[in-house]
Amino acid sequence: MHIYGNDFAAVYNDKWQDFSARMWPFLWETIQKHKPDAKTWLDLCCGTGRLLKLVCENGFSAVGLDLSPHQLKYAKVNAPAATLVQADVRDFSLAQEFDMVTCIFDSLNYLTTKKDLGRALRRARRHLSEDGSFVFDMNTFAGLQDTWCHISTIREPHRVIINETSFDEKRGLGRCLITGFVKQGRAYRKFEEEHIERGYKAEEIEDALARCEFGFKKYDGYSLSRPRKRSARLLYVCHRE
Ligand SMILES: C[S@@+](CC[C@H](N)C(=O)[O-])C[C@H]1O[C@@H](n2cnc3c(N)ncnc32)[C@H](O)[C@@H]1O
Repeated sequence: MHIYGNDFAAVYNDKWQDFSARMWPFLWETIQKHKPDAKTWLDLCCGTGRLLKLVCENGFSAVGLDLSPHQLKYAKVNAPAATLVQADVRDFSLAQEFDMVTCIFDSLNYLTTKKDLGRALRRARRHLSEDGSFVFDMNTFAGLQDTWCHISTIREPHRVIINETSFDEKRGLGRCLITGFVKQGRAYRKFEEEHIERGYKAEEIEDALARCEFGFKKYDGYSLSRPRKRSARLLYVCHRE
């Protein structure tokens, strides 16, 4: 089943806009600290381009990469100055290194095997300039265990969206079943997407980083301060070793 299809990309573009703006001060600070003369930025799994918009507005030359053409359609509108590439984060090759590489809002959790996570991290490293920073966040095992157990709905005159989440502890996999009904004339068109995210433990993420020769500092992904014992999301700021 394809995810981030036409109907869900429209919902995502409307409803999940704020994350990048919340992250921006932290990302800006990271750049000022490590490479204040940074000029180029690669946003992996860029979605609808909300982060790219801020990146371009702040004078960077930006490239966004995502697998979903529907997400990229919105990115083109939200960040017209960015170059967009439709590709898989596990297997892409751009003829450029970047001063900043980002992959935010639990995008890497969509890689459900350690092998695939390793492939994506290696790709990120390959595209990072020698003194550049790579910043990404991930939902943790504890985070999915604690929070992926609910049903939420979005009700609007032109659509109804139902999100049902659950977590399979044995396999470490979270499932979010999205069922939408979008008004079409006098009837409703139904769509359904099944999103599977793997809840990674910090040791697993850090083992993958070590294998790619990344040094890192980690933060709680929500407070952006010290990680907690059961941080639901972890954020890593990585550098080439
Ligand atoms: C939760 S969204 C985050 C989007 C964006 N980073 C943001 O902050 O709004 C996850 C994104 O990852 C993309 N994605 C998932 N698996 C991918 C893959 N293997 N390669 C490239 N993009 C992928 C999806 O298409 C989606 O746009």
